[in-house]
Amino acid sequence: MKQIFSGVYKKGNNLYTKGKNLEEWNPYKSKPAAAILNGLQNFLVKKGQKILYLGAAHGTTISHFSNIVGEKGIIYGVEVSDKIILKLIDKVRKKKNIVPILEDARFPENYGWIGKVDLVYEDIAQRDQVQILKRNKVFLKEKGIILIALKAKAIDSVREVKEIYREVIEELSKDFEIIETIDLEPYEHDHLFIVGRMK
Ligand SMILES: C[S@@+](CC[C@H](N)C(=O)[O-])C[C@H]1O[C@@H](n2cnc3c(N)ncnc32)[C@H](O)[C@@H]1O
Repeated sequence: MKQIFSGVYKKGNNLYTKGKNLEEWNPYKSKPAAAILNGLQNFLVKKGQKILYLGAAHGTTISHFSNIVGEKGIIYGVEVSDKIILKLIDKVRKKKNIVPILEDARFPENYGWIGKVDLVYEDIAQRDQVQILKRNKVFLKEKGIILIALKAKAIDSVREVKEIYREVIEELSKDFEIIETIDLEPYEHDHLFIVGRMK
């Protein structure tokens, strides 16, 4: 077993993070795991970070982020669906560093109390996912990091995926230095994982 990033381990082609025990990180269920197995060089989630997580869903990926940031870190998980957040709360009950927030990420003013964060992660399959991310940049510390699991087909189900990727990168480049992008095939179709830093 080899540590390949802060708190991320690899054995053969399997990834793990470590909570109380080693937990397998499935690339078919979690996009950052897919990005890492596809060769991502800059996975910038680290021990002790404060993270804003948009689109927390049932808690699969946020649980692994929780293992990585450890007890000195904290993750605010925003989820808009009241049914889904109940499952999230149930899953992460034992993780002391996750704060589930039932809110629409389009309205960051509703959770402004979280203060500044080191990193914003977005995995929201909505047409306006780029605009939502940009609204949430108010939380980033100077030179703060963004990670996005971009779903092209949610933006436009007809147009060429590569054209959508190009436009999104151009739009994000106004505010962020794009550090790396990586396609998530074969784990997820039509998804691009993007790593950036506030300019
Ligand atoms: C693709 S799933 C996220 C999967 C999750 N990140 C994981 O890897 O475990 C997208 C989630 O975003 C939520 N969502 C969609 N629009 C949202 C919004 N405007 N604000 C907050 N959450 C939203 C959905 O309810 C859904 O649970």
